[in-house]
Amino acid sequence: MSNEKITLRVNGKGHELAVSPDQTLLEVLREELNLVGAREGCGIGMCGACTVLLDGRAVSGCLMLAVQANGKEITTIEGLAQEEQLHPVQQAYLDHAAFQCAYCTPGFILSTVALLEEDPNPDDDKIRHYLAGNLCRCGSYGNILEAVQQCRQDI
Ligand code: FES
Ligand code: FES
Repeated sequence: MSNEKITLRVNGKGHELAVSPDQTLLEVLREELNLVGAREGCGIGMCGACTVLLDGRAVSGCLMLAVQANGKEITTIEGLAQEEQLHPVQQAYLDHAAFQCAYCTPGFILSTVALLEEDPNPDDDKIRHYLAGNLCRCGSYGNILEAVQQCRQDI
């Protein structure tokens, strides 16, 4: 399979890449751009560990081919903080110790950012519903809910 040329803008920086048509966005981010904050959990769109923002929308990097992201703006967890200042959602997850092993955390944080972009003041049911595609095998759901509740007040 011959490689295809694509352009991605990732965390504000442009990249021209030659990718295989069957490479996922997650593989390209992790293996070509060394952005390993997006994790591979299930690899089949069930866990949310690979969540990134595509033009501001939360997507599963394991389900999307890199060629489908051609010309798009991608945000990964590495792109959220501004210099030394954590993004308010990152800070809220820290404030509420909303993780244990943290494998799921980048995906949860990016899904939370997308949720608040869509609805800055979601009620608890909406938070639970929106984040239902992100799984935490450590069971930090209570603390995660508290973190998101803090964000809706902060943002
Ligand atoms: S690794 Fe993509 S959804 Fe689980
Ligand atoms: S904190 Fe371990 S999987 Fe969520």
